[in-house]
Amino acid sequence: MKAGALALACLAAWTLPAAAAPADPVAGAAKAEVCRTCHGPAGVSADPAIPSLAGQPPLSILYQLIQFREKRRLAADMNAVAAPLSDQDMKDLAAHFAAQPPAPGFPPGEPALLDTGRQIAQAQHCNSCHMPGLKGQKHIPRLAGQPLGYLRTQLLNLKSGVRADIDGTMASAAQVLSPADIEAVSAYAASLGP
Ligand code: HEC
Ligand code: HEC
Repeated sequence: MKAGALALACLAAWTLPAAAAPADPVAGAAKAEVCRTCHGPAGVSADPAIPSLAGQPPLSILYQLIQFREKRRLAADMNAVAAPLSDQDMKDLAAHFAAQPPAPGFPPGEPALLDTGRQIAQAQHCNSCHMPGLKGQKHIPRLAGQPLGYLRTQLLNLKSGVRADIDGTMASAAQVLSPADIEAVSAYAASLGP
């Protein structure tokens, strides 16, 4: 078994016991107060370095919170925020934010850059995992309407290995992207609405 697959299997086994209690979006809304100062009052971020959480697949939010808590994904603010959260807290938070209307998408900038970004997304089959419109699914995050700066940083970090991903699929998808490709595909994803 590859190390990535093993990590995924451990993660799945570990989250299973908590699956006994259903996710509670109402409890999640109360627990989310601390998140809103950074991620926006309705989970739509106004900060280019901070992702929107609204409309993210719940499993993606849950897995990323676990990654932050276990310090497999390093970001000082999020490592501190996630440290005291239980699996149930994370499931409730995920259910709450997943149910909020997604970010509207940023005003499209330079048309040539967007076109290049769209072509790269097609050629590299980003849709096959992130879904048409880059809306995300299961543990795979929504990219549509995320801030360009946030997407750029994540792609650079996934490519270099600064950000470890759960199963290695995204690290390999990022390998072929040049910095210029990353700029274009990030601009394209940021421009997409719900
Ligand atoms: C002090 C600011 C701050 C607070 C408070 C905060 N976050 Fe974050 N959050 C961030 C930043 C910055 C990132 C991006 C980290 C990176 O660059 O990898 C992030 C990333 C995330 C991600 C990853 C999203 C993705 O698409 O990969 C999730 C999920 C998340 N935060 C959930 C939460 C939740 C839930 C709370 C409240 C319990 C919360 N955050 C509170 C700043 C904050
Ligand atoms: C084989 C499936 C697959 C393909 C193809 C793929 N991705 Fe991903 N992507 C993932 C997974 C899984 C994650 C979550 C990684 C993790 O943290 O474990 C992810 C995460 C990301 C993130 C981080 C987003 C966030 O909020 O945390 C970005 C940005 C991204 N992908 C962009 C792209 C782009 C652009 C392409 C096409 C060039 C692409 N992906 C192709 C599976 C894929």
